[in-house]
Amino acid sequence: MDAARRLVSRRPATPLTGRIAVPGDKSISHRALMFGALAVGETRITGLLEGEDVLRTAAAMRALGAEVTRDPDGTWRVAGRGVGGLVEPPDVLDMGNSGTGARLLCGVLASHPLFAVMTGDASLRQRPMRRVIDPLSACGARFAAREGGRLPLSIQGPKEALPMEYRVPVPSAQVKSAVLLCGLNAPGITRVEEPEATRDHTENMLRHFGATVKVEEAGRGRVITLQGQPELRAADVEVPGDPSSAAFLVAATLLVPGSQLTITGVGLNELRCGFYATLAEMGADIVVENRCLQGGEPVGDLVVSHCELRGVDIPWERAPTMIDEYPVLAVVASHAVGTTRMRGLKELRVKESDRVAATAALLAVNGARVTIEGDDLIVHGDGRPPPGGGLVETNMDHRIAMAALVLGVATEQPVTADETGFIDTSFPGFAELMNRAGGALAPA
Ligand code: S3P
Repeated sequence: MDAARRLVSRRPATPLTGRIAVPGDKSISHRALMFGALAVGETRITGLLEGEDVLRTAAAMRALGAEVTRDPDGTWRVAGRGVGGLVEPPDVLDMGNSGTGARLLCGVLASHPLFAVMTGDASLRQRPMRRVIDPLSACGARFAAREGGRLPLSIQGPKEALPMEYRVPVPSAQVKSAVLLCGLNAPGITRVEEPEATRDHTENMLRHFGATVKVEEAGRGRVITLQGQPELRAADVEVPGDPSSAAFLVAATLLVPGSQLTITGVGLNELRCGFYATLAEMGADIVVENRCLQGGEPVGDLVVSHCELRGVDIPWERAPTMIDEYPVLAVVASHAVGTTRMRGLKELRVKESDRVAATAALLAVNGARVTIEGDDLIVHGDGRPPPGGGLVETNMDHRIAMAALVLGVATEQPVTADETGFIDTSFPGFAELMNRAGGALAPA
């Protein structure tokens, strides 16, 4: 990966227009490869996100004995080994920049009787893994990790795993999913309780591959029970466009006067839609067309038009449904009339970077008014774009880089992102797609 690519974003001469599609959903892509590897038979995946993060997961599944190939037309095929059938990897599994890949894979490995070592890049090696090590140890797996539960780590799975009962202490789909994936190869019932509902792609995919899973509402959260050691059957997966990637194009369209852009085939899972609900409250003009179900996930086309926006107070309970969208929402808020308060962003501090600090810094260096109070991020807008002209430090964080480049579409002075190679982890072709829609991104 060419991580040092410096890009600059300028106000385009004309509005953003046209019809585009964004790459496949990152969360669903990781899971499709893992479930494919754990199923019996051949799983075919269309629309897989071919970003660095997901390609690391594909490589890990290969190292664990699954056959993973790509047809010339972009269809991926996974010949799985069945639940419990993975083999010991011959080398260290390098998950690159991907927290989702690393944590979900810990779950898969923990209930297999094999030894594995996992590492990642400098960003991933700083991120907390204790949140999966602790619950997964209850199945009988033995973990050894660096100080603070950081990568690299090693896992020795037990001969026979025990089922687990776990209440996830922080709202995290990754932790929930790691426990469920581990429970797949434990006899009996694994039960996970989450205090806040988080994205449920794992539950949907468990069903899609033939597992018996029950989901019950419990206040704002859910209780999920999984019958262990099912025979997962290969299934076709059609990956929808990633709503978290679409968010950057939606934001750019809202900020450039006269723009109207249609983004086709975007995943609209209700537990991913907090960003869109917030934009609606801010007065955004977004219409959803052609709603349908695709492989158990709702999908639709987003027709976005530029309009004036107002600041809003975003309740902390909404955070799990828009956790990846706060940096770009903050960029939008810096153009709105009035104050936007984003509450309860503690989990945002342990992403690819501390995104509370990085988002505040990206706005401040471009002349926007922004403050941090505890775990709240507050952006003060006056209905005009901030001046711009800043050099944004992206800290190996793809979403900070893309948020910075979106800011530059409307500021008077261009905005520069110091390191944009990491965008390829989740959104390969981002700059080209922005420019196809009418943006003005160029090497700095
Ligand atoms: C993801 C869950 C979220 C999200 C990440 C993808 C997933 O992380 O930020 O980009 O696919 O399960 P947390 O579980 O840490 O909130």
